[in-house]
Amino acid sequence: MAHLWSGRFDSAPDEEVFEFQSSFAFDRRLFEDDVNGSLAWAEGLALAGVLSAEDATAVRAALEEIRQRGVTDPSFVDGDDEDVHAFVERQLIERVGDAGKRLHTGRSRNEQVSLDLRLYLRRRIGVIQRELVALVDSLAGQAASARSALMPSYTHLRRAQPILVSHFLLAHIAAVRRDHARFAAAFVEADALPLGSGAIAGASYPIDTAALARRLGFARVVCNSLDATADRDFVSTFLHASALTMVHLSRMAEDFIIFTTEEFAFFALSDAVTTGSSLMPQKKNPDPLELVRGKAGRVIGHHSGWLATMKGLPSGYNKDLQEDKEAVFDTDHTVARSLRVVTAVVRSLRLQDTRTEAAASGLALATDVADVLVARGVPFREAHEVVGRMVRDLLAANRDFSAMTHDEWQGYHPALDAEAASRITARGSVEARRTPQSTAPDAVAAALADARAWVEASTPATD
Ligand code: ARG
Repeated sequence: MAHLWSGRFDSAPDEEVFEFQSSFAFDRRLFEDDVNGSLAWAEGLALAGVLSAEDATAVRAALEEIRQRGVTDPSFVDGDDEDVHAFVERQLIERVGDAGKRLHTGRSRNEQVSLDLRLYLRRRIGVIQRELVALVDSLAGQAASARSALMPSYTHLRRAQPILVSHFLLAHIAAVRRDHARFAAAFVEADALPLGSGAIAGASYPIDTAALARRLGFARVVCNSLDATADRDFVSTFLHASALTMVHLSRMAEDFIIFTTEEFAFFALSDAVTTGSSLMPQKKNPDPLELVRGKAGRVIGHHSGWLATMKGLPSGYNKDLQEDKEAVFDTDHTVARSLRVVTAVVRSLRLQDTRTEAAASGLALATDVADVLVARGVPFREAHEVVGRMVRDLLAANRDFSAMTHDEWQGYHPALDAEAASRITARGSVEARRTPQSTAPDAVAAALADARAWVEASTPATD
């Protein structure tokens, strides 16, 4: 077959080498975006007087027909073309001959591929953001039904201090909301029209790029053609937002894997989101969560791999940039699927609050005892020392604060009177918190209301 650039060459390309450098196998995913970009370019050329009115009409009708065919029958988008841009151009020329051959006037695939990927990412970011909102909604639902249930928090995976279960769930919500904002930033970065850049130096036709940007819904036009034809920062930002989202999903998965073990049993996983063992009849495994944790590595790999690809490139377009697409496609697919799976798991969780409450007390209240002493004028270092001694004795006797008599309290420090001792409970500990980001019940209720309002405000009316 003839290639887009056959004129300059004496011989046809080596088959395997051509295959190696062609991208149609994966960039066909940009088909619709490529046709939409071409429709806009045809209009730009017509407005600039480069394409006659009849040619523009013929090109528009043919492109619309091509788009229609490709959308209704994906197997149509096929052939031994080098890439999706070559495919669309071949289809166009087959339909309208010379008029089709005029479409590429003043345009390069270097800017075309940047345009297509920007259009693609703008669409996909919206999809991922909707999945992020659904995840927040599921976590908020669990937080609401946990009501005032208590659990221990952990540092170094050792019991630290009592918190509300909803505080734990809201911690994950906080991270997911940052992910949503990071994708919004990735959208802004992708939201610039590269057309008019040509192959590198800009177009020599009076194309109204601002009008083209408006038509394609872009907020702005790129500012430098040399930069624009080789800039994939918007890809890096998208991959970064994705990698960090996967890190958060992986940590959430890890929490739920641990908290649903027989040892913890803070939550139960429903059968629908677990798998059994072919050998051990008793097993109910959290495979989907483990896979999310595993896939985080792969998305992080796409991000770091992409930065490595970019770092040695001289100015201007280089074919290395073609590697962006497989990284993006696998990433956006993986992130969206992982989000749906984690949301399904979260929705199905059953809190076992007798377990969480039992684990929330005991020696996890040590800091609260120290706080009581501080409230009664004892310097914190001294209080820490006193409580440390108490903890040592209690551990040796296999007891905790709740079993201590009045005399025992007094024996450690005279300030530890009956009133003080009565405040040393997991509930009292949580209620003693005073800052807005704390696990104080009022603060948590406000945070939950805020999360729900955010879900409401972030959900498109059409959904
Ligand atoms: N398939 C190419 C890519 O993905 C399109 C741009 C090709 N440009 C070129 N000068 N070879 O980057």
